[in-house]
Amino acid sequence: MALKIPKIIGHRGACGYAPENTIESILTAAEMGVEWVELDVMLTRDNVPVIFHDDTLDRTTNGFGNIADTTWADLQQLEAGSWFGESFAGAKIPSLEDALDVIIQKNLGLNLEIKPTPGREKETAEVALDVLSRIWDDHSRLLISSFQLVSLETAQEMAPDWYRGLLLWHDDLPPNWADIADYLDVVSVNISQQLATREMVEDIIDMEKAVMVYTVNDAQEARKLRGWGVDTVFTDVPDVIREAMFHVH
Ligand code: G3P
Ligand code: MG
Repeated sequence: MALKIPKIIGHRGACGYAPENTIESILTAAEMGVEWVELDVMLTRDNVPVIFHDDTLDRTTNGFGNIADTTWADLQQLEAGSWFGESFAGAKIPSLEDALDVIIQKNLGLNLEIKPTPGREKETAEVALDVLSRIWDDHSRLLISSFQLVSLETAQEMAPDWYRGLLLWHDDLPPNWADIADYLDVVSVNISQQLATREMVEDIIDMEKAVMVYTVNDAQEARKLRGWGVDTVFTDVPDVIREAMFHVH
């Protein structure tokens, strides 16, 4: 079953329009006609996989401190929407399972980014893949990605046939990234916009891997990248990028 890679992926749902990594953000992306969403998964203190980006609760909730020190029961008391806008007051941090239910119901594809807090690289992948293996059927519409090599290695061991993507960031680019991509047998290399030079894009295409670029919110930039052969862009504003790339209103 080949990976049905989309041209546009909604970043943390559609986080330009709704609080990132919430059910509201997934639903907003679905309403915009997005085919896939990207979500970050990490673990609570008691090992519940939740959809969340930062190591700490401070920026996007009314709580504070490390998510890795907080139990699922305590997380559920928090509110994760008001920081973005009063109309989202009451939004919650979803569990991975809650998010998957909505994604499946809305018939979306998923790029799940394994985003472990430091030291939990292996267990975060293990727990997330465990939940996915119970719930997710269509592997043509699932990509597991991570910046963390241990997390990708764990995914490779647990589910060798599931599609994996290697995330690269401009501030911390391993010089041997191409060897790592080969060794982990990833189908895609997911690079930051700052890394997306024409040469880098061509290098990845030469490796016969898909090129995915995050986070592209500018229409002109999206058109340029597409012209270079980039397969997919992650965006906070799917409607803007969709119109730029396909002239769809
Ligand atoms: O997966 C693409 C992108 O989400 C990676 O960076 O920090 O937004 O999770 P970040
Ligand atoms: Mg992410």
